[in-house]
Amino acid sequence: MGKNYIGLEKDGIETVVRELNKYLSNLNIIYTKLHNLHWNIKGAAFFELHTKFEEYYDKVNTDLDAVAERILTLGHTPAASLKEYLSLSTIAERESKDVTPEDSIEVIRKDFSLLLEASRNILKLAEDANDQGTVDLMSGFISKYEKNLWMLTAFTKS
Ligand SMILES: [Fe+2]
Repeated sequence: MGKNYIGLEKDGIETVVRELNKYLSNLNIIYTKLHNLHWNIKGAAFFELHTKFEEYYDKVNTDLDAVAERILTLGHTPAASLKEYLSLSTIAERESKDVTPEDSIEVIRKDFSLLLEASRNILKLAEDANDQGTVDLMSGFISKYEKNLWMLTAFTKS
């Protein structure tokens, strides 16, 4: 099949891009879900978690742009509609309703664990495709989600 304009084998890159679009879709679902939690959190930890969830969705917003622009750099088109995000994502949306601190942390912990697993999976696929740029992007995400998961675990043990 040959190489693309930045010298990477098209075959391997197509596999990477398929997973990156799924990842991008998951980030978009999480972006909305974090707003849901930010708005609907109730209880004694309100001020703390309300602020924390805003911090998370701001970071997710930056990350989803980086993923979409990586897909473009690889010569492909990023998914850019809510319809595509809903059909490609592997993370479920959350109903619009009140949430307790414990439940909200559990929701995020589950989704961040899924993103961590997906980041590791994409890193391997990118290595196989000699795509160091995507390896670099995913390796940053891996350490970030690992750290987030440590903090979320520490919070629930308090
Ligand atoms: Fe707000």
